[in-house]
Amino acid sequence: MAYAAFRSIGAYVPQKILTNEDLAEMVDTSDEWITKRTGIKERHIASDDEYTSDLGVKAARQAIERSGIALEDIDMVVCATISPDYFCMPSTATIISTKLGLKNVTAFDISAACTGFVYILSIAKAFIESGMKKNVLIIGAEKLSAITDYTDRGTCILFGDGAGAAVISATDNKDEAIVDVHTGADGEYADLLMTPNGGSGSAHDALEEEAGVFMQMKGNETFKVAVRTLTKDVKEILEHNNIASESIEHFVPHQANYRIIKAVGDALKMTEEQVVLTVHKYGNTSGASIPMAINDIYEAGELKAGEMMLLDAFGGGLTWGSALVPFSPLK
Ligand code: ACO
Repeated sequence: MAYAAFRSIGAYVPQKILTNEDLAEMVDTSDEWITKRTGIKERHIASDDEYTSDLGVKAARQAIERSGIALEDIDMVVCATISPDYFCMPSTATIISTKLGLKNVTAFDISAACTGFVYILSIAKAFIESGMKKNVLIIGAEKLSAITDYTDRGTCILFGDGAGAAVISATDNKDEAIVDVHTGADGEYADLLMTPNGGSGSAHDALEEEAGVFMQMKGNETFKVAVRTLTKDVKEILEHNNIASESIEHFVPHQANYRIIKAVGDALKMTEEQVVLTVHKYGNTSGASIPMAINDIYEAGELKAGEMMLLDAFGGGLTWGSALVPFSPLK
């Protein structure tokens, strides 16, 4: 049987930085409020002519380069995004594939908001274990600034742009294999986080007037469901695999809010050294946040071969997921 190994990581953030002070000039907020309630200090914002696929391509090139796997051996590209280059089609994954020069690949996007990266990890694992694919490039890429309402202080302080990518490849060595991925969803909570305009749920006449697809969020309710669901989910994946939280080298949660990360980390009795934190410098980059955070520890020299990562994420849908992933580079 083939197993799926997490070979490499890459990431990219656009140059422009939007600070809390900048936002305080745009809406009624303050650096103090944002820092205290979210832990965010700044986020990166793509330029007008920089699309989600451009961010994704840069992260993907780095991940492929670091994987030791030849570009032409990539046989599938999956992109997690809620801010695709184009609404409906073509998919951002197909655009990224072409910009990378990939031919003869299967390529598609998935929509699972902030849980997107965990979802595409499970897809890569399933395709590889079934023998259908050998080397899958997974990308979380977001230009959330394009779907953020910069007059709404409840959401605009949270989101940033960026991309992260990983190469997952087949191995027959079980020690290298992704241990487990859990994913879940509950549409009962769909209205907590949504982009209500612009889809088939909008009246056709309204589409011209309601061109914007800005995110709306019931932040406080989302916060409570996030803490409850994530704590339960990560405990379950650890128990299910008989792994103690002390043996996790890197707990890599979705970077939405420092208080959510702290609450879940405390419930798992994680130490500060185990918890990966990037929310202060990137904000919430939805599907890109987990691979961007993994890239941070990789570039800091803190992620070593064989070390176990526990990923967890929560987002619009609602969706959630967790994963137990050893870092298994080829070289
Ligand atoms: N600056 C100043 N005051 C503000 C701001 C702001 N930016 N935003 C809201 N407030 C005010 C509110 O109006 C409210 O005032 P009131 O008491 O006079 O009515 C007060 O602050 C408290 O508002 P809450 O919404 O209760 O604040 P909370 O502590 O919940 O923090 C936040 C809000 C940061 C949005 C938090 O709820 C959160 O992080 N939620 C979860 C987000 C999340 O994880 N989303 C899922 C992933 S995202 C995705 O899938 C794309």
